[in-house]
Amino acid sequence: MTTIDKNKPVMVTGATGYVAGWLVKQLLEQGLTVHAAVRNPGRKEKTAHLDEIAAASGGTIKYFKADLLDEGSYAEAMADCELVYHTASPFTSNFEDPQRDLVDPAVLGTHNVLEQANQTESVKRVVLTSSCASIYTDAVELKDTPKGVFTEEMWNTTASLDYQPYSYSKTMAERAAWEINEKQSRWDLVVINPSLVMGPPLNPKATTSESFSLLKQLGDGSLKSGVPKVSIGLVDVRDVAEAHYQAGFRPEAEGRHITCGHNSNFLELAKALQPKYGQDYPVPKKAMPKWLVVLAGPLLDSSLNRKFLRNNINHPWRADNSKSREQLGVSYRPLRETMEDSFAALVEAGVF
Ligand SMILES: NC(=O)c1ccc[n+]([C@@H]2O[C@H](COP(=O)([O-])OP(=O)(O)OC[C@H]3O[C@@H](n4cnc5c(N)ncnc54)[C@H](OP(=O)(O)O)[C@@H]3O)[C@@H](O)[C@H]2O)c1
Repeated sequence: MTTIDKNKPVMVTGATGYVAGWLVKQLLEQGLTVHAAVRNPGRKEKTAHLDEIAAASGGTIKYFKADLLDEGSYAEAMADCELVYHTASPFTSNFEDPQRDLVDPAVLGTHNVLEQANQTESVKRVVLTSSCASIYTDAVELKDTPKGVFTEEMWNTTASLDYQPYSYSKTMAERAAWEINEKQSRWDLVVINPSLVMGPPLNPKATTSESFSLLKQLGDGSLKSGVPKVSIGLVDVRDVAEAHYQAGFRPEAEGRHITCGHNSNFLELAKALQPKYGQDYPVPKKAMPKWLVVLAGPLLDSSLNRKFLRNNINHPWRADNSKSREQLGVSYRPLRETMEDSFAALVEAGVF
C-alpha cells in the first residue's frame, strides 16, 4: 500500500506527448505541481497547450530538459517527487534503424528513468506506460490463449527487431522495468498497458503519435476504396489518462493493467465515423478484401508487411479489461464518442 502526498510534485516524462497531455491536464486540474521532463522545453509549439491548461487550473507546471538517452538527465526533474510517470517512448512507424530509433530510447530510457528513481530517495511509486504490444504481436495469437482472450499474465514472445520492432521495444522496456523494480523495495511499479489509443489530441498539430496516422488515413481519402479489416483493441485517450491517474494515487494499485475499451477493427472504426462525417469526408465504407490487402498493402504503406496483414486481418481480437475496471475504476467511453471527438479535433485543426 503506497500513499502519495499530493503536495509533492509529480514527474511526467514525455509530457509533450499525446497520451501524457491528458494525464498532465488531469494532474493540473487536481491542483498538483507537475514536473514536465521534455526534450525541448523551449519549443512553444510543443508546450503552449500545457501552459494554457496550467493557467486555467489550480496546478503548476515546471519544465525540465531531459532525454531518454542522456544518463542522469532526469535527476533535476525527479527531485522531491514521490510519484513518477514514465510515458516517454517513441511510437512511430517512421524509423530507419529499429535498434537505434525504437529499442534504444525505449529500453535505455527505461533504465535511465528507473535507475534515477533508485537514486532519488523521495520516490515511492513509478507508473510506466507500456502497451498491449508487450502482451501480443498479432491477433492470430488469440487462438493460442487458454481462454480465447489476452490477459495481463501474457507476454509478447513473437516480436523482434525484424518483425514489429515497436512491439519488441515496448516488451523489452517493460521487462527491464520489472527487473529493476524487483531488485529494490522502496518504490513500487504499476504498469498501464493501453491498446491503440484514439481520442482528441490536446495539441493536434504537434503530435508524433502513430495513432494519428490511422485517423488521418480514415479521413483523407487514402482508404476510400476500402479499409483493411485489421483487428485491434481501441481505447480513448481520456480513459487512458484516468487509468494513469488512478494507478498513481490508489494505494492498492499493483501490477499490469490492460487498458482497452473496445475489441474492434479498422472497418468498425471507420463505420463509427460514418453517421456524422461520412457525407462530407471520404471515410471508408467497406473492407478491402484480404487477398488484395496482402497483395497491395505493402505497396501502399511500407509499415504494412505481408506477414502482419496475414496475421491480423479477419482474425478476432479480444482482451480482458476487467482489472482496469475493477481495480482502477476506469469506465470506458463508447467507441463512437471517441472516434467523433478525435475526428472533430483534426477537422478543427485544419488537418483535412
Ligand atoms: N498512442 C497509442 O496508441 C499508444 C498505445 C499504447 C501505448 N502507447 C505508449 O504511450 C506513450 C506515449 O505515446 P503517444 O501515443 O502519446 O506518442 P507521442 O505523442 O509521440 O509521445 C511520445 C513522447 O515520447 C517522447 N520521446 C520520444 N523519444 C524521446 C527521447 N529520446 N527522449 C525524451 N523523450 C522522448 C516524445 O517527446 P517529443 O515531444 O520531444 O518528441 C513524446 O513526448 C508511449 O510510451 C507509447 O509507447 C501509445
